[in-house]
Amino acid sequence: MAADPLLSLLAGALLVAALAPAAAAPSCPHTNLTANFSADFTMLQHQLRGTVRLAAEGKCALELTRFDLLAASPSARFWASDGPTMSDLAAGRAFSPLPLNKTFQNASLELPFARPLPRLLALYDPDTFSDFGHVFLPNGTDPGLDAAAEPAPTMFDNCIPLSEAETYRLRWTLNASAGTVEIGLEAAVGSEYYMAFGWADPKANSPAMIHADVVVAGFTEEGTPFAEDYYISDYTECKLGKEDSPVSGVCPDKVYEGGSNDSILVYGHRQDGVSFVRYARKLDAEDAKYDVPVGATEEMVVLWAIGRLRPPDTMRPHYLPQNHGGPRDTTFGFARLNLSETVDNCLGPLDADNKEDQERIIADRKTPLVVTSAPAVRYPNPPNPDKVLYINKKEAPLLKVERGVPVKFSVQAGHDMALYITSDPIGGNATLRNKTEVIYAGGPDAHGVLATPKELVWLPDRNTPDLVYYQSLYEQKMGWKVQVVDGGLSDMYNNSVVLDDQQVTLFWTLSVDYKSISIAARGEKKSGYLAIGFGSGMVNSFTYVAWVGNDGVGRVKTYWIDGKSATGIHPTSENITFVRCKSENGIITFEFTRPLNPSCTGKVECKNIIDPTTPLKVVWAMGASWSGDDLTDSNMHSVTSSRPIRVLLLRGSAEAEQDLRPVLAVHGFMMFVAWGILLPGGIMAARYLKSLKGDGWFQIHVYLQYSGIAIMFLGVLFAAAELRGFFVSSVHVKFGVLALLLAVLQPLNAKFRPSKPANGEVPSHNRIMWEYLHVITGRSAVIVGIVALFTGMKHLGHRYDSENVEELTWALMLWVLSVIVVVLCLEYKEVKRRIGDRSARGHWVLGNTEEEDSVDLLHPDGAARNSESSATGVMEVSRHGFSGSEEIDLESPCLF
Ligand SMILES: *[C@@H]1O[C@H](CO)[C@@H](O)[C@H](O)[C@H]1NC(C)=O
Ligand SMILES: *[C@@H]1O[C@H](CO)[C@@H](O)[C@H](O)[C@H]1NC(C)=O
Ligand SMILES: *[C@@H]1O[C@H](CO)[C@@H](O)[C@H](O)[C@H]1NC(C)=O
Ligand SMILES: *[C@@H]1O[C@H](CO)[C@@H](O)[C@H](O)[C@H]1NC(C)=O
Ligand SMILES: *[C@@H]1O[C@H](CO)[C@@H](O)[C@H](O)[C@H]1NC(C)=O
Ligand SMILES: *[C@@H]1O[C@H](CO)[C@@H](O)[C@H](O)[C@H]1NC(C)=O
Ligand SMILES: *[C@@H]1O[C@H](CO)[C@@H](O)[C@H](O)[C@H]1NC(C)=O
Ligand SMILES: *[C@@H]1O[C@H](CO)[C@@H](O)[C@H](O)[C@H]1NC(C)=O
Ligand SMILES: *[C@@H]1O[C@H](CO)[C@@H](O)[C@H](O)[C@H]1NC(C)=O
Repeated sequence: MAADPLLSLLAGALLVAALAPAAAAPSCPHTNLTANFSADFTMLQHQLRGTVRLAAEGKCALELTRFDLLAASPSARFWASDGPTMSDLAAGRAFSPLPLNKTFQNASLELPFARPLPRLLALYDPDTFSDFGHVFLPNGTDPGLDAAAEPAPTMFDNCIPLSEAETYRLRWTLNASAGTVEIGLEAAVGSEYYMAFGWADPKANSPAMIHADVVVAGFTEEGTPFAEDYYISDYTECKLGKEDSPVSGVCPDKVYEGGSNDSILVYGHRQDGVSFVRYARKLDAEDAKYDVPVGATEEMVVLWAIGRLRPPDTMRPHYLPQNHGGPRDTTFGFARLNLSETVDNCLGPLDADNKEDQERIIADRKTPLVVTSAPAVRYPNPPNPDKVLYINKKEAPLLKVERGVPVKFSVQAGHDMALYITSDPIGGNATLRNKTEVIYAGGPDAHGVLATPKELVWLPDRNTPDLVYYQSLYEQKMGWKVQVVDGGLSDMYNNSVVLDDQQVTLFWTLSVDYKSISIAARGEKKSGYLAIGFGSGMVNSFTYVAWVGNDGVGRVKTYWIDGKSATGIHPTSENITFVRCKSENGIITFEFTRPLNPSCTGKVECKNIIDPTTPLKVVWAMGASWSGDDLTDSNMHSVTSSRPIRVLLLRGSAEAEQDLRPVLAVHGFMMFVAWGILLPGGIMAARYLKSLKGDGWFQIHVYLQYSGIAIMFLGVLFAAAELRGFFVSSVHVKFGVLALLLAVLQPLNAKFRPSKPANGEVPSHNRIMWEYLHVITGRSAVIVGIVALFTGMKHLGHRYDSENVEELTWALMLWVLSVIVVVLCLEYKEVKRRIGDRSARGHWVLGNTEEEDSVDLLHPDGAARNSESSATGVMEVSRHGFSGSEEIDLESPCLF
């Protein structure tokens, strides 16, 4: 029995001896690669991983190990081609008949070949021109033929799952000689999640997060990966600190005093709903205070977490991790790790529930989709041309349309790009590829540029398949998928408008009796909560916030917001019914119905009355998370509308809140010239310029009044044109119309005025009556006109809330006051002059200017004036009531 182990050892040695020459024996004639060659597949799609070597023993076969792939379509194959470009791949050939329509988990395959190896071995789907990933094979006589190729950034030596559900993995490759470790974090989570991993404080007795040195990795809203060194000084979100309080919380190293970011981002991507970030760090701590030194061969406590990222805002310029919440081992946990151990416990590719990570656009009945072209950055189906289609500024988004709802495209991608909707996934005229396609809309004519966009309307009907494609007719793979679904919000609601920035769509239907309104809002990008508010900004608005809680239940709550911090957010108890809220791929949609008038008193929400006849100002906000009642500053939004949209509920349209509309400003200016300068000027001319020789005053009076009336009419036209109609509903319009009627009466009655008495004659009774009429209507017109000016200002202020309206109102007030002062001065001088004229008679008329004026009108030359003053029964006041000194005092403010 003792000989047995010896025997087997001997046999083993013999076997090795027999095999050794075989390895060196004649190698495969179709390649000069050696057994030492190895290369990794790059990962482009379907979570492809794998290492390629030449099979041993001179076999003409490639050996593929640790091969991971998510199931592809039945047409996908290993593919031989000269290069990774679209045309190279299209001109290639299948390398192996092996179908790839099943998921491979850590598979080992042998792919025999019978002709010289190609330059490139890819996994390729010829039906959709999709490259899942590829590996370059050095050909023929390349130098360094037997060297291992540069490893793909997605490949590591070791891997362990972190979370219980194995949706979060840690991969690493240790380079002990260089004193570095490369770490890959991989998780099947949404792009709005962070992945954190790091080493716990070695001095701690039990595993704890506090004082841990972690790296937070994730993706910005633009999709760029990042990996950033963090130090946990407290169990709170990062507080950046002021002079008196230091930085504390879960904060980036670089915001601490003397800290720095010591992790180096190597690579990152999002594919198939999986986030992957690779970074490198040194084993020994670079700054002893915030970094934990890692022993290469030591077993140490590590910790991890996944949670939502808070995008930067004005107060915090970093992407900050939010509390992960959740149970241990699901969203956070601890493990013991020895970096130099070789482990591979991750079987197969991560398989996310939701693999469609593409930006989405949901088409609506009213808003056209703007189609442009721009350089490709993250095209979902590589390889792709340099330029691809963008819809509403999003790169090749997934377009969702509803059957029966027309989709409008505004094509402005240049004249070399004709848009069409096709059944072919690649586009570019499938007939040229000897394929058939069904074209649903568009064609050679559907091209345009920004200056002359081409409008294309497509009505998906009940026969349109669930999946079609928008593509360019002349170039392949510029567009992407169109998902066709049965009716949605735009079918259920009568009206819809897109709010500011095109980030939120508002839908509504007024009930038939105008008692209630049903409202829906949909965010057009991912967020943790969506809020719409009625008001000019989020502050001082009635706000409806919708979010999906951690329990997966959608909620809608109402608030009154009167401040920028959490203390300014007051929950209200509005009676909203038919509440629904859901989140699809992070896109929140919510609906509710409320009475137009809350019919209650006392509480602030009772003032939240919707009047469908006046425009409703709507704003929106989105943010990372909402927590219901116990609000903290962490509920503050990260994105918000920059200006309110005025929604015309009855008309079903909207307009942006703007600074003074130029046309309305012109209207205002014209009315000011007419009512503030010309018409009062004319009246003043009639009253104070009679001392001029001849009837000069009369000429001035008539010219001023006529030009005033003409300018006023122009102003009315401007306003009517801007508002597209004439509504006599507001106070301003009522006053304006009254002033206009009074003003128009003046030239009319002047036309029929009784003739002027000759010098020295007593005017006829009719003439005196007319003079009264003319003077009274004239002055009332000016007064009503000035009131109209002020109501117009108020109107503007209400409509546009801009501060310059207030300034303008003050300026107008100042103007009116100065005119009044001037009139008083002139009046005073006039009275003085008349007193001079009539000093013999010893009394003068005060307080009845009409009478004075009427007489002046009669007697432009100033002769025989006032002879009838007592006859007209006006009050006469003895001039002895005034002392001479008062006269002098009164004179001083007058400058003329
Ligand atoms: C593989 O590489 C080793 C050292 O790197 C070398 O000794 C050996 O000869 C190589 N084998 C072949 C077949 O080239
Ligand atoms: C893969 O596709 C082939 C046809 O190409 C089919 O027969 C087979 O059932 C498919 N396998 C899977 C796992 O879908
Ligand atoms: C191998 O290399 C030789 C020269 O070094 C060359 O002539 C031959 O074509 C190569 N074979 C293949 C299959 O590339
Ligand atoms: C090797 O590849 C180069 C291009 O990279 C090509 O020009 C050459 O013909 C190839 N040689 C063989 C033997 O295939
Ligand atoms: C380790 O790092 C050094 C220096 O960066 C490098 O030269 C070496 O190739 C690395 N070793 C491995 C196995 O990657
Ligand atoms: C994957 O396969 C390799 C051999 O090719 C093996 O060493 C490794 O343990 C396997 N990993 C898993 C998770 O099964
Ligand atoms: C596609 O190409 C074929 C062949 O050149 C041509 O007859 C056809 O009109 C093209 N289709 C469109 C939509 O341009
Ligand atoms: C299409 O078919 C025609 C004739 O069958 C052939 O000549 C042509 O090369 C084919 N084109 C492509 C791109 O396969
Ligand atoms: C909600 O309805 C109840 C009874 O229907 C009423 O008492 C209450 O005032 C209403 N609240 C508001 C804010 O409308």
